[in-house]
Amino acid sequence: MSRTDRVSNDSCVLVTGGCGFIGSHTVVELLEKGYEVLVIDDLSNSSKAVLERVGQIVGPDAMQRLSFYRANVNDRETLDGIFTHHRIDTVIHFAGFKAVGESVSKPIEYFSNNIGCTLTLVDVMRTYGCKNIIFSSSATVYGDPDELPLTEESPKKPATNPYGWTKWMIEEMLRSLVVADPTWNVVLLRYFNPIGAHPSGLIGEDPKGIPNNLVPYVAQVAVGRRDAVHVYGDDYDTPDGTGVRDYIHVVDLARGHVAALEWMAHRCGCEVFNLGTGRGTSVLDVIKAYSAACGTDLPYVVEPRRPGDVTANWADCTKAKELLGWEAQYDIEDMCRDSWRWQSNNPYGYER
Ligand SMILES: NC(=O)c1ccc[n+]([C@@H]2O[C@H](COP(=O)([O-])OP(=O)(O)OC[C@H]3O[C@@H](n4cnc5c(N)ncnc54)[C@H](O)[C@@H]3O)[C@@H](O)[C@H]2O)c1
Repeated sequence: MSRTDRVSNDSCVLVTGGCGFIGSHTVVELLEKGYEVLVIDDLSNSSKAVLERVGQIVGPDAMQRLSFYRANVNDRETLDGIFTHHRIDTVIHFAGFKAVGESVSKPIEYFSNNIGCTLTLVDVMRTYGCKNIIFSSSATVYGDPDELPLTEESPKKPATNPYGWTKWMIEEMLRSLVVADPTWNVVLLRYFNPIGAHPSGLIGEDPKGIPNNLVPYVAQVAVGRRDAVHVYGDDYDTPDGTGVRDYIHVVDLARGHVAALEWMAHRCGCEVFNLGTGRGTSVLDVIKAYSAACGTDLPYVVEPRRPGDVTANWADCTKAKELLGWEAQYDIEDMCRDSWRWQSNNPYGYER
């Protein structure tokens, strides 16, 4: 969107976890749409440098509509202060820990951070009469699917790790809020696999330590930080034997939040939306697309399957298209091209 396309909008949105991967891209889209944006982030998995980059993308005028609070969402006093000083219309709640493997070894930290901070947040929201919330849920709640594509009606399955349980439970907590008080307005967005980066190459995913997800790992192989991609299982019942996922460009995902925000105004209840592309892409297809983007054939090694990985999943996004007027625009080539631009311009992320 060009500067002149921006609409004037005096709505104030609190974005928890707004310095993170998906949060930062959503902050860009919100500022470009004219929203006033408050970010609360404790920087436990991000860097403040991201906001300087956001400023380079949106420009100084839009940045005047951004305020940053470095704090834990579980810190009730800070939240009270924020709600006292601003009339917040909606909260977009990204803050939380997200590493599946780590959640298995640190369940207390995951339950405490993800569920604890959500409870504090909604309690403070209730106190200040702010009852609009968009929550970052995940396709992980569908578990191993019986049928594809997955619709919002597909059954939730028991989670296979504490991270998955936190998403599962927070969805139910927010649903219960609406049952108890139907004036709450809850949107649960179930993301499929967000990858890619802002086309400017200024912001992107910056995992700490060894990346847990495929594309950040592939990106680090592409810049020479790691030797080879590990492909976990090539004997799945899929066309090339490797796992199939629905990858979605992070900018499309960010725009899905803005679409949800606009749709949820003047309504209440609880609604769930899948955000994906509706297309499945295999691990080998991702490596091929990334190799084309970076101009080198990336090496990979096949390893045994990982416990808990499902064979395939992809979304039916008809509901988001019909109700939100939202549809993903970017394909896997675009996602790999933008990821590569970010990674090659910032081989060590925001740090150097
Ligand atoms: N990236 C994915 O593949 C994916 C898929 C489905 C759902 N999600 C969910 O989307 C949300 C955002 O994911 P992301 O990829 O941007 O993750 P991220 O780690 O990049 O962003 C999360 C942000 O929240 C902050 N944070 C964590 N706990 C906090 C707390 N208690 N108080 C304040 N700040 C806190 C972190 O510092 C970080 O900046 C998460 O809830 C995640 O579980 C992500």
